Amino acid sequence: MLVEAYSPLATGGILENEDITQMADKYGVSVAQLAINFVLQNGVLPLPKATHQAHIENNTKLDFEISPEDMQALNAMSGTDMG
Ligand SMILES: NC(=O)c1ccc[n+]([C@@H]2O[C@H](COP(=O)([O-])OP(=O)(O)OC[C@H]3O[C@@H](n4cnc5c(N)ncnc54)[C@H](OP(=O)(O)O)[C@@H]3O)[C@@H](O)[C@H]2O)c1
Repeated sequence: MLVEAYSPLATGGILENEDITQMADKYGVSVAQLAINFVLQNGVLPLPKATHQAHIENNTKLDFEISPEDMQALNAMSGTDMG
């Protein structure tokens, strides 16, 4: 059974998160790209929503891999850390 992640960007709520922004900068990607790859690397299907063309295109560029250490740090964050 494939689990689907609705609102993988917390309806935009994580876009301003400082810790996640810092990590995204390290990989040279947007927070949205980091969040989508985080969901994929957890074996879950992300359902991101974007109305702007630039966001839609950005969200398809996922040619990077989040390290096991960073995956662990992201998985350890609680919902209240998401802004
Ligand atoms: N059936 C259910 O129970 C259920 C529950 C929750 C959600 N949903 C559905 O799941 C979908 C996702 O929900 P959501 O709206 O919470 O989605 P989301 O993917 O968590 O957040 C969407 C927000 O992120 C922004 N965004 C997307 N890509 C971006 C990027 N690359 N850079 C910066 N900002 C970016 C969008 O901005 P722009 O629009 O400006 O591009 C929008 O404001 C929706 O279709 C929703 O209806 C269904």
